[in-house]
Amino acid sequence: MLNHSTITRTIFRIAKTTGRQYSATTAVAFDKVGVIGLGLMGHGIAQVAATSGVHSQVIAFEQEQKYLDSGKARIEGSIGKLVSKGKMSQEDADKALQSITFTTDMALLADTDFIVEAVIENMDLKQSLYTNLGETCKPETIFASNTSSLSITEMAQFSGRPQNFVGVHFFNPVQIMKLVEVIRTEQTDPAVFEKAYNWVGDIGKVAVSCGDTPGFIVNRLLVPALLQAMLMVDRADASIKDIDISMQLGAGHPMGPLHLADYIGLDTCYFIAKGWVEKYPNEPAFVIPKCLKSMVDAGNLGRKTGKGFYHWEGDKRGDPTTA
Ligand SMILES: NC(=O)c1ccc[n+]([C@@H]2O[C@H](COP(=O)([O-])OP(=O)(O)OC[C@H]3O[C@@H](n4cnc5c(N)ncnc54)[C@H](O)[C@@H]3O)[C@@H](O)[C@H]2O)c1
Repeated sequence: MLNHSTITRTIFRIAKTTGRQYSATTAVAFDKVGVIGLGLMGHGIAQVAATSGVHSQVIAFEQEQKYLDSGKARIEGSIGKLVSKGKMSQEDADKALQSITFTTDMALLADTDFIVEAVIENMDLKQSLYTNLGETCKPETIFASNTSSLSITEMAQFSGRPQNFVGVHFFNPVQIMKLVEVIRTEQTDPAVFEKAYNWVGDIGKVAVSCGDTPGFIVNRLLVPALLQAMLMVDRADASIKDIDISMQLGAGHPMGPLHLADYIGLDTCYFIAKGWVEKYPNEPAFVIPKCLKSMVDAGNLGRKTGKGFYHWEGDKRGDPTTA
């Protein structure tokens, strides 16, 4: 049976897709949200939250002014592009930007309903952040981490409110990628999880639900596939080019696994694999291929350094570096 909030949410969605104005704040999961860290991911999350038009205020927090300024400039630039391409009206752009409060003062996060954390992937840093946040925010504030590889359960303990803690894993670039994995731990209150899940829909993304397992859904399937392709290179089963062509033309993937690994960054692939191998030594899908380690040791990190499994000129892929 549909309850009242499901019905209002449905009306809201219909209104959104038909372009009609609808302003019942009771229809959405959260009124006032915070985003911590305005880097690659956080600026996109703050932007998408603001342009969804469902929040009275978005508090965008960085600890240093220079990073706050660069995050703000990124959001303004990205929204400006949407306007110049005719994808957003100037009026909606102005409204979205006005709804964001940019700050280095953590106290402004105190009365937010929901906070998404997107600071760098470092547990020590996240630990002290969550300890401070737990002391700063009202008890009902729900915390969500955008971490790709750290344990949500561990972070939830630092916050002092594990029942009010979830993961919301966005994909890069946030403005374009539709999927958000919503992660629950064993201690997450089901009502909290439902709110976070519904919020993803409120901001125009598609939510999937997952437990607190390494890599969640996408990376748990994707990263081992990349590692298996590298093991094929180690064993000289097939050439780099033939492995990639096979997965493109045989499996319909948009790019082959070695091309993709270069694109992500071989240091990132190595960092993830190493962390998993150390934490889950008995999981056979988690391995460190020899070719990956030797390329990272040599500073050949893929696209960003111009050399990995392939030669690169900027974003343009060249020939494989070995046969
Ligand atoms: N890069 C990706 O493709 C990707 C994809 C999904 C999830 N993630 C996850 O998102 C998180 C952020 O990654 P990113 O790539 O955006 O990193 P980034 O380095 O681009 O941005 C991190 C930002 O956090 C800020 N910061 C650091 N400490 C802070 C603090 N104490 N308070 C407030 N701000 C602080 C930094 O100034 C920086 O602007 C990580 O947990 C990462 O695992 C990244």
